[in-house]
Amino acid sequence: MKKFQEIVLNKESSTQHLYIQLYKALKDLMVEGRLRKGDRLPPIRKFANLLEVNNVTVVTAYRILEEEGLVYKKIGSGTYVAVDLWSNRKFQRYSNEDREEGLTEAPLIDQGHIQIEEDMINFASATPSTDLFPVDDFKQVLNEVLDRDKGLAFGYQESQGYYPLRCALNEYIDNYNIHAEVDNIQIISGAQQGIDIIAKGLLNYGDYVMIESPSYTGAMAVFQSRGAKIIDIPLEEDGLNLLDLEKKIATYQPKFLYIMPNFQNPTGISYSLAKKKKIIEIAEKHNLLIVEDDYLSDLNFYASNNATLKSLDHKDLVIYIKSFSKIFMPGLRLGFLVVPQSLYSELLLAKHATDISTSGLLQRALELYLKKGIWQQHIKYMEMQYRERFEKMIQSIQAYMPREVECNLPKGGVNFWLRLPNGLSSKKLYEAAVKENIVFAPGHLFFLNNRDTDCFRLSIAAVNPKEIHNGIKKLGGLIDFLIQDKGIYSKKADEYKPIL
Ligand SMILES: Cc1ncc(COP(=O)(O)O)c(C=O)c1O
Repeated sequence: MKKFQEIVLNKESSTQHLYIQLYKALKDLMVEGRLRKGDRLPPIRKFANLLEVNNVTVVTAYRILEEEGLVYKKIGSGTYVAVDLWSNRKFQRYSNEDREEGLTEAPLIDQGHIQIEEDMINFASATPSTDLFPVDDFKQVLNEVLDRDKGLAFGYQESQGYYPLRCALNEYIDNYNIHAEVDNIQIISGAQQGIDIIAKGLLNYGDYVMIESPSYTGAMAVFQSRGAKIIDIPLEEDGLNLLDLEKKIATYQPKFLYIMPNFQNPTGISYSLAKKKKIIEIAEKHNLLIVEDDYLSDLNFYASNNATLKSLDHKDLVIYIKSFSKIFMPGLRLGFLVVPQSLYSELLLAKHATDISTSGLLQRALELYLKKGIWQQHIKYMEMQYRERFEKMIQSIQAYMPREVECNLPKGGVNFWLRLPNGLSSKKLYEAAVKENIVFAPGHLFFLNNRDTDCFRLSIAAVNPKEIHNGIKKLGGLIDFLIQDKGIYSKKADEYKPIL
């Protein structure tokens, strides 16, 4: 009964009926594997009492689930779950339990995990190395918060976030031409949670979602976990293919489009301003919701324009996600959303149901960090550090990659996307590179069907700058070797790290 007691319905919601909220909550339990095939749903009257709603709310929620074939009624006995949504999930075979039980047979790289050992040249992680973290400054603000707020810093924080932090962030985005109200700012425990609560709040099982191809693995996993049908749209040098976008909007009527218009992950592509504007026009024409994942626009080295879509959005159609992980410290698990007015209560409810609130202590510390202006200094420092790596990477690619390898050099961010010649497999290159103590992210990880591809991602976020030349030189040599078809070899993995 505990899982049913955890269900929270927003009785104030003007946009979502209670029976829809209940239906979604039950489906979430199925997707999460907490309701499995054959499990019995609570009797109607008892459930209605528990949730303090009318019997009709429960009856209607059950009826919709039944119409979707997710539950069935046994006369005189009750309502039962008809299918295992959990076991339908594509990612199910990668669960930790499976791994512990040794049930996985595919190589780790096929499972979205990369083996990274201490002494490896790491072009795989897109997460900053820990030596870049401003630990001393943060320690100081943490101490100040503890002296100032005492126990308050450890109480439950409002689900929407610590008010002074939301005010500070609202001011911060004003500098980037995003003009929102403090009420539209929702604090999240990292961008990944942002994607998750958007999916939880907006998606029903079987809904369509559109993404770029290739796209961020973590977002695809979220949409799949909600039972959404994912439609991908090819990326071109200056952004999405707009013809394909419009055609697919008309065909699938997706719930939303998820994109990263600046320094996209994994390709490093930035959309042209013209394309950004056109996408906003298309969204307005079709009343299409856009989820903009801004995980990195701060690291702009050479782009003449890195406007966010949100700054161009005058019809309130863009949900903006901002992460601090790449430019600050990922372990803080802090980020924020700018939420359109119409979605405000759905997303707040989803956030509440997920973790009640993001750590109050850390929110307070970040607010002080912003207020003291240390943030601006830190961004400058990160820019300097990353610029050094970025330039070394560009020089190394130009010097050591065989002529046949294609690369559209990015203008900022941390990711470089390269294409091997003659349809060579990036998985095979990966296997050969691991043997030489070099890791990177092979391209198949970023495509929907995990198809092997000739593309791969090199990231400068975590690599030791001193190793860039040497690493790229060796990798260039391996590619030459593969081009000449001298064979490849593999190595057994024994330590796992998720790719971010
Ligand atoms: C595009 C993108 N979005 C979101 C995330 C998750 O970020 P966070 O650490 O803020 O949850 C990542 C992490 O790598 C990412 O690459």
